[in-house]
Amino acid sequence: MPTPRYGIWLIGARGGVSTTTILGLSALRHQLTPEVGLVSALPAFAKLPLVDWDQFVVGGHEIRPSTLATEAEMLHQQSRVFNEQTLAACREELDAIDQNIRPGVLWNVGETIRELATDDSSASLNPRDSIAQIQADLNDFRDRHQLTDVVVVNLASTEPPLDEALWPTTWQAAESLLEQPSCPLPASSLYAIAALDLGMPYVNFTPSLGATPGGIDELARERATCHAGRDAKTGETLLKSVLAPMFAGRNLEVMSWVGHNIFGNLDGKVLDDPVNKRAKVESKDHLLEKMLGYSPQTLVSIEHIQSLADWKTAWDHIHFQGFLQTPMTMQITWQGCDSLLAAPLVLDLVRFTLAARARGETGALAFLGSFFKSPLGTENQAFFEQTQVLEAWARESS
Ligand SMILES: NC(=O)c1ccc[n+]([C@@H]2O[C@H](COP(=O)([O-])OP(=O)(O)OC[C@H]3O[C@@H](n4cnc5c(N)ncnc54)[C@H](O)[C@@H]3O)[C@@H](O)[C@H]2O)c1
Repeated sequence: MPTPRYGIWLIGARGGVSTTTILGLSALRHQLTPEVGLVSALPAFAKLPLVDWDQFVVGGHEIRPSTLATEAEMLHQQSRVFNEQTLAACREELDAIDQNIRPGVLWNVGETIRELATDDSSASLNPRDSIAQIQADLNDFRDRHQLTDVVVVNLASTEPPLDEALWPTTWQAAESLLEQPSCPLPASSLYAIAALDLGMPYVNFTPSLGATPGGIDELARERATCHAGRDAKTGETLLKSVLAPMFAGRNLEVMSWVGHNIFGNLDGKVLDDPVNKRAKVESKDHLLEKMLGYSPQTLVSIEHIQSLADWKTAWDHIHFQGFLQTPMTMQITWQGCDSLLAAPLVLDLVRFTLAARARGETGALAFLGSFFKSPLGTENQAFFEQTQVLEAWARESS
């Protein structure tokens, strides 16, 4: 019997995280890199039936023309990441994957994202037609490459947030929204609906709405498939979810927590629009209350500083109170390369999601909470507790 093959379908397929994920996968296949940074390569997951790097086929949707090789070269030049040898060895594979990338849809993505699209032929599609186009592309990809399953991962630019009062709480309500000419659901939710309706799992790496509403989770359960999200926890917020439980465990009262983030990539440019930025700031800011049990004063700022390219500096200033009401301060500076922090987590999420599929799990995958700033299906935000949940799931699943 031939070895089964699995699809990874990336929405935003030529963005920084997608390009790095694709290059990283290719480098793993060529054994040009160790598995450092990959959670799924840890000994705790050695007994899980995980899909091998060689079994994956990649495709996706994108709204900018470009090519993967151009995007990888740009990251290399501007952000001093990857080496020449890796770029050269993976070039052929990047060119082949470009052939699997199709034009994306633009429903309710906001002005800033719409301006990124040079070919806006899909801009006129209504929600139902957008879903039909996405499904035709997904079916074609699965059939052409004879894939056992396809995991759809949202790595597209962050959309403006949608007022929670408008989220459909049932699948029936979502379906009637799709018929309305003023349907408020954004493209990320249309991609989610298209994938889940075909029984394909969906992972939302971004703060965009995606499959978050109860009505879309209901669709996933009805179609016996699963989803995970949202907004991957890769840097400053990861630190928050490690440090906040420490302050709580020592009964030190956090009075204020300020996080200032500066970076210069395309994601940062989109987040420079105050409307898109709101979705990200909400996602980075809400978790402290859950871990501390009270709400200190908080401030999260995100600024686009072009010269920094993909390198993010996050400065956190934590003002806290100890015994005899003595005020103290912790300051941390985090300097990380955004796409390099994110890419291995994309591969981990795909592998764990496929393992959950094999176990017949449906709906929101709560055991993946450690990967997200706003985890679906669980209220737990503390990183080490979330890691224990993941490891316990792996023990049960092995
Ligand atoms: N460490 C991280 O990099 C990190 C962490 C958490 C979340 N995220 C989120 O992941 C996403 C990707 O980050 P990035 O740095 O790669 O951003 P990016 O701007 O480099 O890439 C986004 C890509 O999505 C494309 N796109 C936008 N709207 C689309 C649509 N409707 N359909 C298809 N393609 C579309 C854009 O053209 C672009 O190529 C962002 O939403 C970001 O906030 C990133």
